[in-house]
Amino acid sequence: MKRHYIISIFTTLVLILFLSSCSDLKKDLPTEESDELQIHVQGWTDTTSANFHGKAIQNNNWDMHVCQSCHGADYTGGISGKSCNICHTAPGGPQNCATCHGMPPAPALDGSTSYTAHGVGAHQIHFIGNGTYSSHSMLCDACHHMPTSIYDPAHISADGRAEVILNDPLANLTSSGITPTPTYDPSSMTCTNTFCHGAWRLPKVGSPDTTMFTTSIMTGASYAPRWNGGPVEKSCGSTTTCHTLPPNGHKPSALTICYTCHGDVMDASGNIKNKAKHINGKIDLAGGVVLNFR
Ligand code: HEC
Ligand code: HEC
Ligand code: HEC
Ligand code: HEC
Ligand code: HEC
Repeated sequence: MKRHYIISIFTTLVLILFLSSCSDLKKDLPTEESDELQIHVQGWTDTTSANFHGKAIQNNNWDMHVCQSCHGADYTGGISGKSCNICHTAPGGPQNCATCHGMPPAPALDGSTSYTAHGVGAHQIHFIGNGTYSSHSMLCDACHHMPTSIYDPAHISADGRAEVILNDPLANLTSSGITPTPTYDPSSMTCTNTFCHGAWRLPKVGSPDTTMFTTSIMTGASYAPRWNGGPVEKSCGSTTTCHTLPPNGHKPSALTICYTCHGDVMDASGNIKNKAKHINGKIDLAGGVVLNFR
C-alpha cells in the first residue's frame, strides 16, 4: 500500500513534468477527495468498460507513446513498475501486429469477423487461396504498404481506414497495348481495372493456334469485384466475373474439354487443378507449354 502510494506520487509528478500537454490523461489524475491515489480510471482493465485501455488508445489514434513514458519504451514496466507484457505476451508486447488486427485481418480493428465488414472483406480468399478458391495466395504487400513497425509513418492515418495501394506487378500487367490502372474505391468498396479480375486482351496475331479465335482478339471481362461482396464475387464463368468459359473471342468448348489444351491448369472435371498456374500472368497450356501475354 505504502509502495503504491509512493509510486503514485512519483508518477503523478512525472505526469505533470512530462505530460502536462496531454488532456486525455489529466482526467485520470487523482482527485483531492479520493482516499487512494489512482493513476487510471475505473474499468481500465475491464474489456467491457467504456474506459477500457484498448478503447482509450484507439480514441487516441492508436498512439501508445504516452503509455511508454511510464510503462517503459519496451513496455516492461518503466517507472510504473507494471509491465504491459504480462498480458500482451507476444513478441514486442502491445506493438505486436496481432494486438490490433488479425493477420490477415479477421477480426478487423472494430472486432468484425464477417466478410461484409470492410476490415474483413475478401482478405482470407486472397491470402489463403485454399480448396474452393481458384487463385493462389497473395502477400499483404500486393495491396498495402507493409509497415515494419506500428510507428511507420505510412501505417496509421487519421481516417482509420487502411490504405490500399495496388502496385502489384500482376495487377498492373500490360497486354495487347492496354495497361490496367488498378484502383480501389473505399466508398463503394470496389476494385476496378486489375489484370487479375480480367483487364486483359489476347490478340490472334502471334497465337500458336489461331483457329481457337472467333474474332481478332480474346478479352477478359475487366470485372469490378466488391471487396465485401462475398462468395458471389468469385463465381466462375458468369458473364459478370473475370471471364466467361471460355473467354469472349475463344472458340466455344465444354468445361470438361478445357483440360485437353489447358491440362496444366485444369482437370477433366473442369476444376482448377493447379492454382499457381491460374491468374499468374501467363498462358499455361498442357505439357509445360507456357506463353506470355502479348
Ligand atoms: C503517469 C504514468 C502512467 C501513464 C502515462 C500510464 N500509466 Fe498505466 N499505470 C501506471 C501505474 C503507476 C500503474 C500501477 C498503479 C495502478 O494500477 O493504478 C499503472 C497500471 C496500468 C495497468 C494495470 C496493470 C495491472 O496489472 O493491473 C494497465 C493495463 C495500464 N497501466 C495501461 C496503461 C496504458 C494503456 C497507458 C497509455 C494509454 C498507460 N497505462 C499510461 C502509470 C502510468
Ligand atoms: C491486465 C492485463 C493487461 C495489461 C497489463 C495491459 N493490457 Fe492491453 N489489453 C488487455 C486485454 C485483455 C485487451 C483486449 C484484447 C482483445 O480484445 O482481444 C487489451 C487490449 C489492448 C489494446 C487494443 C487492442 C485492440 O485491437 O483493441 C492495446 C493497444 C493495448 N491493450 C495496449 C496496452 C498497453 C500499451 C499496455 C501497457 C501500458 C497494456 N495494454 C497493458 C490486457 C492488458
Ligand atoms: C487483394 C488485396 C489485399 C490483400 C492481399 C491484403 N489486403 Fe488488407 N485490405 C484490403 C482492402 C481492400 C481493405 C479495406 C480497405 C477499406 O475499405 O477500409 C483492407 C484492409 C486492411 C486493414 C484494415 C482493417 C480494418 O479493420 O479496417 C488491415 C489492418 C489490413 N488490410 C491488413 C492486411 C494484411 C496484414 C494483409 C496480409 C496478411 C492484407 N491486408 C492483405 C486489401 C488487401
Ligand atoms: C496499436 C494498433 C496497431 C498495431 C500494433 C499494428 N497496427 Fe497495423 N493498423 C492499425 C490501424 C488502426 C490500421 C488502419 C489504417 C489507417 O488508419 O490508415 C492499420 C493498418 C494496417 C495495414 C493496412 C495498410 C495501412 O497501412 O493502412 C497493414 C498492412 C498493417 N496495419 C500491418 C501491420 C503490421 C505488419 C504490424 C506489426 C508490425 C501492425 N500493423 C501493427 C493498427 C495497428
Ligand atoms: C483445343 C484447345 C483448347 C481448348 C479445348 C480450350 N482452349 Fe483456351 N486457349 C487455347 C489457345 C490456343 C489459346 C490462345 C493461346 C494464345 O494465343 O497465346 C487459349 C486461350 C485461353 C484463355 C486466355 C489466355 C489465358 O490463359 O488466360 C483462357 C482464359 C482460356 N483459353 C480458357 C479456356 C477454357 C475455360 C476452356 C474450356 C471451357 C478452354 N480454354 C478450352 C486452346 C484451347
